Amino acid sequence: MRIEVVPSILSADAGRLTEQVREAEAAGADRIQVDVMDGHFVPNLTFGPRIVEAVRKATSLPVEAHLMVERPELFLEAFAKSGATLIEVQVEATTSLYRTVQTIKELGARAGVAINPATPVDDLREILPYVDLVNVMTVEPGFGGQKFIPHSPEKVRRVRALGNAFEIEVDGGIDARTAPLVVEAGATVLVAGSSVYGFKGGVAAGIMAIRDSVG
Ligand code: DX5
Repeated sequence: MRIEVVPSILSADAGRLTEQVREAEAAGADRIQVDVMDGHFVPNLTFGPRIVEAVRKATSLPVEAHLMVERPELFLEAFAKSGATLIEVQVEATTSLYRTVQTIKELGARAGVAINPATPVDDLREILPYVDLVNVMTVEPGFGGQKFIPHSPEKVRRVRALGNAFEIEVDGGIDARTAPLVVEAGATVLVAGSSVYGFKGGVAAGIMAIRDSVG
């Protein structure tokens, strides 16, 4: 199974966004992730649909919009129109998760759900048959550069045990040390922000280090 490396632009240089996205594409990134934060669901404020549009224009790679926002159902059309090929919402952020997932797919995007570190895997059970991807958050969302939560691989294993018809993505503290741990547990989509855009050897070397670590 191919392991996908997905740079997230949270740690990119916002003043050189197009260039940084193109650097990641040239270095073999598989997708780009835009970390959308509203200052309510998480204590940080980041990007909106216009930035997804800018990323869309900068690359031919799939663009994921990770909505770390309250009531994501209010923003689905805007992010679908901006060119997001996959929209993922936090299971904790909406009271209408089934309708939200169905709407994402009706809008023509792939549907993902993300679960925070303290959210039980069992909260995924009913929605799993309808999603393309589960993002097992390996940090508490809100900021780049946080420490990988050690129990994450075991949690990934428990999500993988629920089925194989969805991708497992991990997000937060993913680098050459932690990537093998989560891949061995069943993750195939690795979101990496600071270990790519903050890598001292540069973006290409950062992506290479992660890819080499999982063989
Ligand atoms: C949630 C954000 C981060 C980001 C990755 O806080 O979504 O997880 O994508 O950040 P790094 O790779 O720097 O931990």
